[in-house]
Parts: sequence; structure tokens; C-alpha cells
Amino acid sequence: MLELAELIEKANTAIKQAKNITDLELIRIKFLGKNGFLKLKIKSLHKKSNDKNSKILILINKAKKQIHNELNLRKIILQKEKINKRISSEKIDISLPGRYLNNGNLHPITISIQQIENIFTKLGFSIETGPEIENSYYNFDALNISINHPARTSQDTFWLNSKLLLRTQTSNVQIRIMKKIKPPIRIITSGRVYRKDYDQKHTPMFHQTEGFIVDNNINFTNLKWILHNFLNIFFEKKIKIRFRPSYFPFTILSSEIDIMDKKNKWLEILGCGMIHPNVLRNVNIDPEKYSGFAFGIGIERISMLRYGISDLRRFFENDLRFLKQFK
Ligand code: DAH
Repeated sequence: MLELAELIEKANTAIKQAKNITDLELIRIKFLGKNGFLKLKIKSLHKKSNDKNSKILILINKAKKQIHNELNLRKIILQKEKINKRISSEKIDISLPGRYLNNGNLHPITISIQQIENIFTKLGFSIETGPEIENSYYNFDALNISINHPARTSQDTFWLNSKLLLRTQTSNVQIRIMKKIKPPIRIITSGRVYRKDYDQKHTPMFHQTEGFIVDNNINFTNLKWILHNFLNIFFEKKIKIRFRPSYFPFTILSSEIDIMDKKNKWLEILGCGMIHPNVLRNVNIDPEKYSGFAFGIGIERISMLRYGISDLRRFFENDLRFLKQFK
């Protein structure tokens, strides 16, 4: 009896001193566990059962319950303490003023692409996409760009290996589309292109929109009409443009369009022309039956004119003071 009382006393003191749930668990194992004092005692008493021993067993069981209860009570207290501690450390002061949320806005190039797509879809064009990592066939060969053309050299083109490159123009999509679908075709595609260039009017990555039509009886006046219309809508006024004769391997009767900037200087904004018969043959379209025109617009260029920006590099410097102006 004395031994039992002492044991209960010991357990109670330990329980009171327990600082956390882990401490409590250790105490439980020590006093009530499989190899704990009480369990061992019960086992030995069971072996020689007699009247006296069964009375002692009853007392031991009572002691077990008592210790068990004490453990549970302490556990509830410790859990409450833990929760209270957490509540006070994670307190939220709802009276504090809210944090200001900055609203983002679209990048000016994205805005231009959306406007270009809007205008051309109204003119009956469908939107397509093409890969930025391209092989030389789609970027050069099929576009009638000869093996010795200077644009192929590593000075202009980012080559990834002897065959793969970062596309230098969106004209690659012309080939991919014409191989897939038969005329009539009326497509625009916009995206990033890459060239080793860096100055006020050039960055190594920039954006183009490529557009082209292939059908019966397509001629240069169709091209002029479409591009005139597009530019007038894009700039929201009648603007001064000039068609300047030019050369591209993939067009014959090739031209560039320049626009007069604020300082009365001509700025080149796009290349265009009638699709070269060789290009049509490369994609199995009969040039005797079909003709087409194509154009490639420099998106940064027309955005610079539209917004009055003098340095193209501004678009990619991620200066928020610059970017926030385009809403
Ligand atoms: N791909 C030309 C360039 O990047 C632009 C161009 C010119 C595209 C004439 C065309 C075109 O489709 O017909 O400089």
C-alpha cells in the first residue's frame, strides 16, 4: 500500500512538471507502459492468485486509473497552452491599414500584337503560331535563301548546332503552313525572332508579324490595299508611307515600307512582296495556278512610331517607370 501511494505521488509530481506532450508520453510509458512498474507487478500477482493478491490487484488497477486520469488532465492543459501560445504569436491586427496592391498592365509589345491580330482577323486572316527553335530548312532553304546568303552566317544567326537555330524571321511559318494546307490561305503569325544585333534600333530578340495570302489572281495591288488599310487603322490616322523597292530571296517584286517619324525621317517598318515561285514550288503549290503576297512587320518599329519611343532597347529593359505608361 505504501509502495503504491509513493508511486502515485511520484507519478503526480512528474505529471505536474511535464512541460509538453512528449514529456507526458514518457511518463506514461514509465508508469503505465508494458515494462512499467505497475504492469510488471500485475503480471507477478496474476501468477500466484489468492485472496490477498486479488485485493492488491484491485488497488493497483485503481492506481492505474488515477495516474491515467492525471495524465489526461495535464494533457488537456498542455494542449490549451500550446494553442494559446500560437494564437498570441500569430495574432493578426485587423485594424492595420491594408497593403496597396499594384495593378499590372500588358507589355506595349503585347498590346501591339493584340491590335495587329484584331485588325487582320477583321480582314479575314486566321492566326497561327510557329516554333522559335527552327531548322535551317524552314528558316532558309525552303525560303529560297541560298546556302551562301550572308544572313546564314554565324555573325547574324544564333546557331544551336549545325542544323538548328533560333529563327531569324517569322517567315518560317509561311513554309510550315503552306506544307500543311492548300490555297486559299490567309494567315498571320506573330512572335519572337533572334539576330545578333544591338543598337538603338536593334535588339538580339525582337518581334515580327508575318502575314500572307495565297489564292487565285493575287497581285501587288491587293498587297498595297491590305497594308495601307492595316497601317491607317493601326495608327488611327492617315499616315505618310512610302513603298521602297527592295530585295528578299523569298519574294519577287519586293518592297519595304517606310513611315515618316516625328523628326521627318523615314523609318523602315516592314518588308513585303509577291511570294517567289520557287518558294511555292518548294511547298508543292503550282505557281502557274496560284500566286501570293507576304509581308513581315517589325512590331517594335511600329510600336516606337505609335508611342513616340526613340530607343527600341527601352522595350526590354524592364524599367517599370517606362512600362507603366502603356495602359
Ligand atoms: N523576313 C523578312 C525579314 O525578317 C521580312 C519580310 C520581307 C517578310 C518580305 C516577308 C516578306 O514575308 O515578303 O527581314
